[in-house]
This record gives sequence, structure tokens and C-alpha cells, in this order.
Amino acid sequence: MKNLISKVAEGYIANKTKSYAIESQQNSAADSEIPKIHLDLGESLIGPSANVDVKLKSLTGKDLLDYPDTVLEQLKTNIAEFYNTPKRNVILGTGSDGIIETIPRLFVNPSDLSIGSSPDFFRFEDACKRVGGKFHFVERDEHQNYAFTQKIGVQLAEAIRELNPKLVWLSTPNNPTGQVAPLELIREVQREAANKDCILIVDEAYGEFNDSRSKPYTAVDLINEGAKQLIVLRTFSKAYGLAGARTGYGIVSNDIAEDSIFTKWNLPYDSNNIGAILAPLVLEDQEHMQFVREETNRLRTQIEDAINSNSNLHYVRGSVTNTLIAKCKNPKFKLVTELANNGMVVCDQDRYMGTGGKGYSRITVGRENEVKTLCDALREFRG
Ligand SMILES: Cc1ncc(COP(=O)(O)O)c(C=O)c1O
Repeated sequence: MKNLISKVAEGYIANKTKSYAIESQQNSAADSEIPKIHLDLGESLIGPSANVDVKLKSLTGKDLLDYPDTVLEQLKTNIAEFYNTPKRNVILGTGSDGIIETIPRLFVNPSDLSIGSSPDFFRFEDACKRVGGKFHFVERDEHQNYAFTQKIGVQLAEAIRELNPKLVWLSTPNNPTGQVAPLELIREVQREAANKDCILIVDEAYGEFNDSRSKPYTAVDLINEGAKQLIVLRTFSKAYGLAGARTGYGIVSNDIAEDSIFTKWNLPYDSNNIGAILAPLVLEDQEHMQFVREETNRLRTQIEDAINSNSNLHYVRGSVTNTLIAKCKNPKFKLVTELANNGMVVCDQDRYMGTGGKGYSRITVGRENEVKTLCDALREFRG
């Protein structure tokens, strides 16, 4: 069968080292008699607004009968109003991952370069490599807490000038560190990209954790000010608690919207009825979102305190989200293994650029009882 695969797909598969599907199969297969607490995938600890349960009870087969034109248009209207941006600038996807997959298909030729900073979400590099593209990382410094310093902004701008990439990617708040890239840094990188044939993608999948009650902290502000060659991604999968509804969205700058590039490329329907019906309900319930933010901060602080109380452990400070990365100071021990022995699954960061080989694990803030079990294990670890 392998000989039937296309050249581009063959190159991609041969180099494939990471996959959600393979990793989660491994996680559930290993030591299956030990009950597992899953703190590995960054989903919401609280779940969606209560509006979702109410709505789900009233849905029937009829709601799935028609193709989703009307509900998708309504969702785009709601998103546009939320960000005070024109509706034609809103794009939808099967999760924001669906849009991440589409972007290189639209803009990257085989061998074209894209860049990002590490550590970051592995799918940026992955999606570019699926179309035969190449990827270059500017490394954020572990000794500077992997922070998005001014220097990183300068280095990304330099890389755009010198390497002529087609795409620049960054997630903020960042996956895996949970840290925020200041809008000033994003503005600087966007200006440089717009001077070249380069598009900046700002992935704000965890953005709601950093928004204030009254206003999102978002690079959509730059689009509304007229910035070009910019795509901002968000999703209903994380803080909104609808990962299973596979509904993500993007706001694109006017130059991209004017040419209707995504609308022309996308498959006939770019999201599904259930997601499109539920998403406006969670968007509307900003009281619940505020509760999610406060609970996440409270429980993440408990985890940070537990790590701080144990001199054998280290964590990367500054997360504002439901994930953080931590490690055992003694390289003989790996946190992922220590926690697995206590029935907890966290995400091993050793195969990812920037954190590779350094022993970090990404921990997702779980529910109250899960956080208690986790904190007990973290306090007791003697390595
Ligand atoms: C930074 C980032 N962007 C995008 C995604 C994709 O999320 P979804 O496809 O569920 O919207 C994830 C998921 O882990 C992520 O961490």
C-alpha cells in the first residue's frame, strides 16, 4: 500500500513523530488496571455554560436534517458582533485545527519556509510539513522562563527580513507555557510580515483565559485598526468547554477577507450544526466565562504552590491558562513517569521543539478533586 502514497504524503508520514491519536491510544493502553486521571489534553475543567445542557435537551433529529447554512451565518454574525469586526472577516473551521490545516494549503508551496518560536503548538510545523513546507524556530530562552521578551519580537522580525518566510505562527497565551505575548510584540512582528509577502497567524485558542470580563485581550484589535496579512484564531474547545463540538473560528484582516480566499477554498460547510447551534449560547454567557477564569486561576495557583513547596521540582512561571509546564530538577526523574505511577496522565514535552530533552511535562488544570490528588503527589515527590 505504501507505494501508492503521493510523494508529499510519503515525506510527511516518514518523518511523523507525533500524533494525537497514537499518543492517546498509548496513554489508555499502558497500565490499564490503574485508574487514570487525564490531565494531558488542555480541555476545560468546568465544562460549558448551563445553556448548553438546556439546549441539548430540546434538540431533535430535525436539527440535523438540513445542511447548516443558517446556523453558520448566525454564528458568524455573533462572532463578528463580539469582536466588533465585519462579518465577512469571520471564518469557521472544524476546530481551529481545521483552519490551521487549511492555511498552509492556501499559502505554502513545497519547500517554502514558515517560522515560529519554540516552544509552541506542534500543529503549526505539522500542518506546514503536510504540504511539503519547511519550518524554522526562533528559540525562546529557558533561562528567561521561555518568556515572549522584546528580544524575541526583534528576532522574529529579523527572521522575517532575512529568511523570507511565507507564514509566521505564534500561540498566545502560549501552548504549552500558558504565557502571553504582549500585543506590542505582535504589532512589531505583523508590521514586518506586512512589509514582505508573509502572513502572521496569532493563535489565541487559550485567549479567553486572559480576557477581562469587559473586553477580549486580542490581536483582532490590530485587524480592526487596519493591520494587513494577519489571521487571528480562536476556538470554542478550550475555556468555552466545547472541544467535542469541533468548532473553531478565525478573524482575518481586510486584505484576506476582500479576496474571499477562505470562503472559496473551504469545503461546502465549514462547521457542523451542533457546534453552530451551541457556540452562540456559550459566547453569550460571559458570566460563566468569568467563573471559568476565576476557578482556573484558583486551581492553577494551588498546583503552582504545591510545586513551589517541593525543592525537587521546577515550573515555568507566568501561565494565565489551564496549562503549565513543570519538571523534576534531577534529570534522572521524569515527572510524566512519576505522575503515571500515581495514576495521572500528563503530556510529555520531551519530543517538542524548545522543551525537547529537558524533561518537561505539560499539566492541565483538572477538577477540584483531581487537582487535590495531583498536588498531594507533587508535594510528596522525593527525587
Ligand atoms: C494552541 C492551540 N491551537 C489550536 C488548538 C486546536 O484546538 P481545536 O481544534 O479544538 O479548536 C489547540 C489544541 O490543543 C491548541 O493548543
